[in-house]
Amino acid sequence: MNSTIAQLKDRFDQALVAAFGDDLAGTDPILVAASNPKFGDYQANVAMSLAKRLGQAPRAIAEQIVQQLQVEDLCEPPTVAGPGFVNLRFKPSYIEAQLKAIQADPRLGIGSTPQPQRVIVDYPSPNIAKEMHVGHLRPCIIGDCLARILEFLGHDVLRLSHIGDWGTPFGMLIAYLREAYPEALTTGSLDLADLAMFYRQAKQRFDGDEAFQAIARTSVVQLQAGDPETIQAWKIVCDLSNRTNLKLFDVMGLSPLIKERGESFYNPFLADVLVELKRLGLLVEDSGAQCVFLDGFTNKEGKPLPLIVQKTDGGYNYATTDLAAIRYRVGVDRVQRVVYPVGAEQINHFAQIFQVGRRAGWITDDVEFVHTPLGSILGEDGKKLKSRSGEAARLQDLLVEAIARARADLETRLVEEARVETEEFIANVAQIVGMGAVKYADLSQNRTSNYIFSYDKMLALQGNTAPYMLYAYVRVQGISRRGGIDFSALGADCPILLHDETELALAKYLLQFDEVLDSVAADLLPNRLCEYLFELSKKFNQFYDRCPILQAEEPQRTSRLILADLMARTIKLGLSLLGIQVLERM
Ligand code: ARG
Repeated sequence: MNSTIAQLKDRFDQALVAAFGDDLAGTDPILVAASNPKFGDYQANVAMSLAKRLGQAPRAIAEQIVQQLQVEDLCEPPTVAGPGFVNLRFKPSYIEAQLKAIQADPRLGIGSTPQPQRVIVDYPSPNIAKEMHVGHLRPCIIGDCLARILEFLGHDVLRLSHIGDWGTPFGMLIAYLREAYPEALTTGSLDLADLAMFYRQAKQRFDGDEAFQAIARTSVVQLQAGDPETIQAWKIVCDLSNRTNLKLFDVMGLSPLIKERGESFYNPFLADVLVELKRLGLLVEDSGAQCVFLDGFTNKEGKPLPLIVQKTDGGYNYATTDLAAIRYRVGVDRVQRVVYPVGAEQINHFAQIFQVGRRAGWITDDVEFVHTPLGSILGEDGKKLKSRSGEAARLQDLLVEAIARARADLETRLVEEARVETEEFIANVAQIVGMGAVKYADLSQNRTSNYIFSYDKMLALQGNTAPYMLYAYVRVQGISRRGGIDFSALGADCPILLHDETELALAKYLLQFDEVLDSVAADLLPNRLCEYLFELSKKFNQFYDRCPILQAEEPQRTSRLILADLMARTIKLGLSLLGIQVLERM
């Protein structure tokens, strides 16, 4: 099925060609949702953009477009307004037919992209050896959501976790364990709590002791050179750490398709990066280190900034690994797009490696590498969220707390409503509401901004929150239970009738879902999807307040049931793309 906007675009294309010739084929009609429903549903701004090219006044251009525009089956007669806007209002009969067409479609009329790409989403990419903390929450949630949306739209998505398993932290930890608890490195008898503690102790030691720093660096070099004993120690630490992380991914409901391809994976390709950079004349030695001098980056004295790719001790670093990953992703994975949902503090890192990648010819014009910077999660005090002991809050604690609070809210409600539910029901609702609330709170913010983490706000039943969205869905399921309605059996031959203005507004909004998904796929901003779902449920509530459903006369009753079902299915699909499950009751 063609979406409403795709059909309109088609008609504009034909009109532009008819009015101004073949040269204008494929011109974007610049359709935007009308700023005020008084003016219609959409407004086309193409006339303004053509004024220069055609050497005519925009208003005259708009008049000529409207003369040629054949939309009688879709819209009321189009009008020209202001400097040359073309205003369009859909006919209810057209909206009715469009909705009818998506009723039986599990994808709700959302087609697959005509240009499927191979896409890598680089997430959640934690550093192992230390526990995941609050800083890893956003890459998990936003990465998962972007991957789901791109995949749903038909792209071939590879989820790669670029875990930090190869650098200085490992050298430090292994050096420390060798010295303090050598048996831990051979027997594998560690558990993660020990490891976290050892990591803290190792870090303390590292920060205060230069001799130890040198030993730790030697361990990194040994690791990178494949020394068997160091590799064995490294494996023990990685296994343990990974097992714990996988459990957390499971609690968060991250896609099981995430593939681990950590920094260590690229070790065999690091030397090649240098060989190539050298061959291309990009490599420069600077105080013993191998560097690439960056365009547009300067140090405090205004001198060009070097990007170090091999340290004086011969060790490679984070940047070298990412350069090897770029080459691998383009050359072996053959991707067209790579998305990095990673903290905003790495903006320079990505700008630098992308620059070197482009200058080396590894990133060509037909491949898009994008860092989608993520803002920080702050505590109520406006500072980075900390645990009681003053370190970054552990991710695990945060999730457990959210679920516990969702459970407490539910239990209070059960008492108030004198309801009795099984433990299974309570545990399930708490898990879905708690996790959903954390995810939704994160996704509904513009991903580039910092936000304040508040359990109370994210669990509130009112406002742009997960519980609010889940309720909108549950309310419709309640209608079906009360009326003994099987939504899937609602007649395909039963018409949809949009008589009340709230019905029509809800129906039109339902048909904008595909546009929203396309925009998220392009701009990688999941908050747009949250805003859409929030607005949709508000439109549903307006309709629900005004229009009786079960008490309505046929054929209106069935028509309204279909409308309610379509909105519930849109919410369910939308939330699933955000990585959030729905509940039938809560
Ligand atoms: N491990 C890094 C960190 O926790 C993030 C890695 C992001 N991905 C990448 N290809 N650099 O900060």
